[in-house]
Amino acid sequence: MSNKTVVLGVTGSIAAYKAVDVASQLTQRGINVEVILTEAATHFVTPLTFRSITARPVITDMFRLASVFSVEHVALAEAADLIVIAPATANIIAKLAGGIADDSLTCTVLATAAPIVIAPAMHTGMYENSVTQRNLAELRRRDFTIIGPIHGRLASGGIGLGRFAPPSEIVTTICHLLSRRKDLIGKQILITAAGTHEAIDPVRYIGNRSSGKMGYALAAAARDRGAHVQLISAPTSLPKPLGVEVIDVQTAAEMSSAVSEKISRADILIMAAAVADYCPVKIRKRKVKKADQRWDLTLKRTPDILAETAGCSPRPLRIGFAAETENLLRNAEAKLNQKDLDLIIANDITIPGSGFGADKNQVAIIDRSGDIEELPLLDKTEVAQRVLDRAVKLLAE
Ligand code: CTP
Repeated sequence: MSNKTVVLGVTGSIAAYKAVDVASQLTQRGINVEVILTEAATHFVTPLTFRSITARPVITDMFRLASVFSVEHVALAEAADLIVIAPATANIIAKLAGGIADDSLTCTVLATAAPIVIAPAMHTGMYENSVTQRNLAELRRRDFTIIGPIHGRLASGGIGLGRFAPPSEIVTTICHLLSRRKDLIGKQILITAAGTHEAIDPVRYIGNRSSGKMGYALAAAARDRGAHVQLISAPTSLPKPLGVEVIDVQTAAEMSSAVSEKISRADILIMAAAVADYCPVKIRKRKVKKADQRWDLTLKRTPDILAETAGCSPRPLRIGFAAETENLLRNAEAKLNQKDLDLIIANDITIPGSGFGADKNQVAIIDRSGDIEELPLLDKTEVAQRVLDRAVKLLAE
């Protein structure tokens, strides 16, 4: 880590004192830490504290003349291997979501191409407010990694969601992000995402609750790690990730043809899509008008896309997902064996705040030997990184 530079932005929250620990742990790992304090943060912690720990000048004022950097926000934005804002208040989250640049920290963030991590800390009401949630969703959409907040005792004395994540967890995530970049250069990755739509008539379809967020997070993460990514996407409202080749499909049959067409060049196939298992036998050309009290639809099986790729040659690394509501690990392991997979990501879709439609996911990764890695509830962007970590390891073997 000794050649890495992390810009640590500290904003005005009572948790600002914990940022001292973050700075200290990063410095101890040999990382060059450049600290920017917002004006509000200086009321909670002093620049001298950070200067003493990092042995670097601390930036508090955009218009200060005696500076080591010519134009600080540009120089730091370019020098940063990663920017972390910890703690991040509702105010800085709103500013970043809106593209506001009115101090050193916001200017640096706006000018950088480095990955950005934020660790929110605030009162539960502020965190749960729909405006804050909308702003966080916007930052996630722009590939920010968000750590926490966690549930626990708050400055107000109450207990709730809004507490700053443990500094050690923030430092571990930063080190993960710094160390695993660009390990997929030269690799072709084929990813499927979202839930297929099986037409009944020109108006109606059979679908499922998949949002596509997990598959899209995998595509963005693989792209960031240097892979050439092809994303076969069923319908979703998510924006197309930049730098990823997206192939739009509607049905399981279309997804199956797209996978067969692309798979021969893939090093890794990840089937994150929720593929409909059945589709109507007959698609009506005209809208079916309501008439009888009952309408029985006859359905037929769709191709099992993942199972069908078992025999393909050359054979890529094949990773599937198992969406389960019961007997999670047993069912997932059975699917791994039936579809002859290298890894399966077991997904209990009954956990609140996890799985279909959510921004987070709690999964277990199972390999061919039956080894089970159970992960905590994490942002889907982080789950994507953990899945790719395992894929990179398997490719190396
Ligand atoms: N899958 C697929 N083609 C299908 C159905 C599923 O390729 N027709 C893939 C999914 O993308 C996922 C894995 O197979 O990676 C497991 O999907 P899941 O829906 O959990 O299980 P199914 O095999 O469909 O079995 P069941 O619905 O009975 O649980």
